[in-house]
Amino acid sequence: MKKVVLAYSGGLDTSVAIKWFKERGYDVVAYMADVGQEKTTDAAIARAKKAGASKVVVKDLKKKFVTDYIWPALKAGAVYEGRYTLATALSRPLIAAEQVAVAHQENATSVAHGCTGKGNDQVRFEVTTQALDGSLEILAPVREWEFKSREEEIQYALKHDIPIDVTKKSPFSIDKNIWGVSVEAGILEDPNVEPPQDAFQWTRGAEKRNLKEQVIEIGFEKGVPVSLNGSKKSGLDLIEELNALGSQYGIGRMDMIENRLIGIKSRETYEAPAATILIQAHKDLESLVLDRELLHYKEGISHKYAELVYYGLWFTPLRSALDAFVEETQKKVTGTIRVKLRKYSSHVVGRKSPHSLYKETLATYSAKDKFDQKLAKGFIDLWALPYKK
Ligand code: ARG
Repeated sequence: MKKVVLAYSGGLDTSVAIKWFKERGYDVVAYMADVGQEKTTDAAIARAKKAGASKVVVKDLKKKFVTDYIWPALKAGAVYEGRYTLATALSRPLIAAEQVAVAHQENATSVAHGCTGKGNDQVRFEVTTQALDGSLEILAPVREWEFKSREEEIQYALKHDIPIDVTKKSPFSIDKNIWGVSVEAGILEDPNVEPPQDAFQWTRGAEKRNLKEQVIEIGFEKGVPVSLNGSKKSGLDLIEELNALGSQYGIGRMDMIENRLIGIKSRETYEAPAATILIQAHKDLESLVLDRELLHYKEGISHKYAELVYYGLWFTPLRSALDAFVEETQKKVTGTIRVKLRKYSSHVVGRKSPHSLYKETLATYSAKDKFDQKLAKGFIDLWALPYKK
């Protein structure tokens, strides 16, 4: 019997997929990756078994997600099309890489995912699988099966006694992990309609909350956030605390039209409080400690890095090479950043670092000035020389 390891979310599509594979003669191992999506795992495991999975493998990938995916992207300054902080995109290569490992442990010949044929995630899953083990067969049931609608899938589930919770289903398609929430479909498919309150998963109700502004302090070591308000934190704790706090203020909401890899434009809303605050703070610290040429050059690298993550090209030589470059740039990115939180936004209000390149004696307009202003004329004359009429 052929064995398939299915990346199982616990939702309708992948629950139905288990039964669908069984009917086609596969032994199905349901693999659940925990990247902080807050899904009720017990009910999901029971559902997978009921649907016919011979085994359910649950992997807690949260720490690995932080150290091996989120921090490299933060250090690189990766943000897609100026806004999307890449929560979903970063999780896919990790989930797929661990899926390949599960396939090897289970002696499976196939892996499967529940992505549709219209999105980026199918690409990220499959490129990762092929980059890590080109001999695995990749199956994408949702792209192929006979169901024309959600209703038909529900009918199929009911017929086969697969326990699904139809009542609780949100009108949106939601993907959640510790780095952010992505929400699409439903009413959001009209790009001119303002996202309703229930589209927001973490920041809902922020408009009504009456919160005082507050300033928090984030400590970085070599580009990695290591403390909050003076106390050392693990990466995971720090991200979770910033998400909880930032959500209250409604920080990190984005409503955007984005360009998918497969060529269509889509409308998505994102909520990424911790990512937004940390990316902002990290960037500010870099502006204090990196010299102008490196800082400007790195902006291009950030752009390329974001594209590469979005396009599913994590396990590629270019990403390794860019990581090596970025790592070199982070040697001096140590210091503390003070960030003011207020409704819907955060602002850096102070920064300090032992490696600061800011020299008060050069910048000041006071009596402390050590800058020889007479030198400026010679500099400008030579700078202008090629253009002088
Ligand atoms: N558009 C985002 C990306 O391609 C998120 C995709 C998943 N979104 C969702 N709501 N299920 O990375």
